Amino acid sequence: MAEVRPIVWKGGKLFLLDQRKLPARETLLELSGARDTAKAIKDMAVRGAPAIGVTAAFGLAMEATHFRAGRIREDLAKAAATLEAARPTAVNLKWALVRLHGVAEDVLREYGEDASPRRVAAAIRREAQAMMTKDIEVNRRLGGHGAKLLSRASGVLTHCNAGALATAGYGTALGVIRSAWESGTRFGVYATETRPYLQGARLTSWELTKLQIPVTLLTDGMVGHLFGTGRVSAVVVGTDRTAANGDVANKIGTYQIAVLARRHNIDFYVAAPTSSIDLDCRDGSAIPIEQRGSEEVTHVAGRRMAAEGVQVFNPAFDVTPAELVTAIITEAGVVSGDYRQGLARAVKKARG
Ligand code: MRU
Repeated sequence: MAEVRPIVWKGGKLFLLDQRKLPARETLLELSGARDTAKAIKDMAVRGAPAIGVTAAFGLAMEATHFRAGRIREDLAKAAATLEAARPTAVNLKWALVRLHGVAEDVLREYGEDASPRRVAAAIRREAQAMMTKDIEVNRRLGGHGAKLLSRASGVLTHCNAGALATAGYGTALGVIRSAWESGTRFGVYATETRPYLQGARLTSWELTKLQIPVTLLTDGMVGHLFGTGRVSAVVVGTDRTAANGDVANKIGTYQIAVLARRHNIDFYVAAPTSSIDLDCRDGSAIPIEQRGSEEVTHVAGRRMAAEGVQVFNPAFDVTPAELVTAIITEAGVVSGDYRQGLARAVKKARG
């Protein structure tokens, strides 16, 4: 079965599987520098925390081919700022840019301030490619750890899309579900529609169908009722940023699912590659929450559904307090209980 690859790097150019068009059409969007890459991230042609980190890395790699001799630091800072401003909540974006900054600094240290821009560009490109490869490996490892938690699951619910599309490949929360299925465990999979952007309806159900994992779609308001039927034993979601204390920022609606899960004694798991853990964030209150345009709420597929003149509240993410999280699954292992200690240990282990 062909793997879903949302990010393609070919001949020094970046191509994105345009997620705004899915599931109706599979088209590639070609990008050439930091500005159009930042726009593609902001406009959701690519979305999902790890995917936007890797995309931003390639955006910087393309821009680096235009860096000027003697002004590399200045050009780098400008391009990185453009990319970082695209979306504020996912820490992966910043994480990727900080890493590339480090790589450029290594070249400048080795070859001096007048290092050739081509040398810096090549180092950034190599690191972006390594990040893409590593992301897939990390997700597979994380999936393996998470699959063990689902070995006795009867039904699993996921929210938004934390699949291959949201990463360089394989997925985080969907990687856990997929890995469990690959090891022979069988359970019902439920995907929320995920208003207002419909990542569940458009993307998660598309991916799971491609993987031949049967999926049942429900609207966000049906979760409490579904939990009441006893058909779901676990929830697995992704994260855009997890604070040092285990508070989890993820797609809007995650928090209410966690509250309902606790009410119904359902395990609530978060699939968090260490690239999405922000130890500099003490707790969830320090996580910036992206507010998006009102049209996402008033319109569906470009058609107005809401009355003219209505005011709109459209935060793209919410924060689930650590106390509602049963465990956080990372590529370095499963963390539960004392998140502050456990997450710090996992990050240390993963980053070496
Ligand atoms: O607004 P989106 O679609 O970028 O939001 C994505 C999510 O909330 C995902 O759950 C999160 O980024 C984790 S993806 C592995």
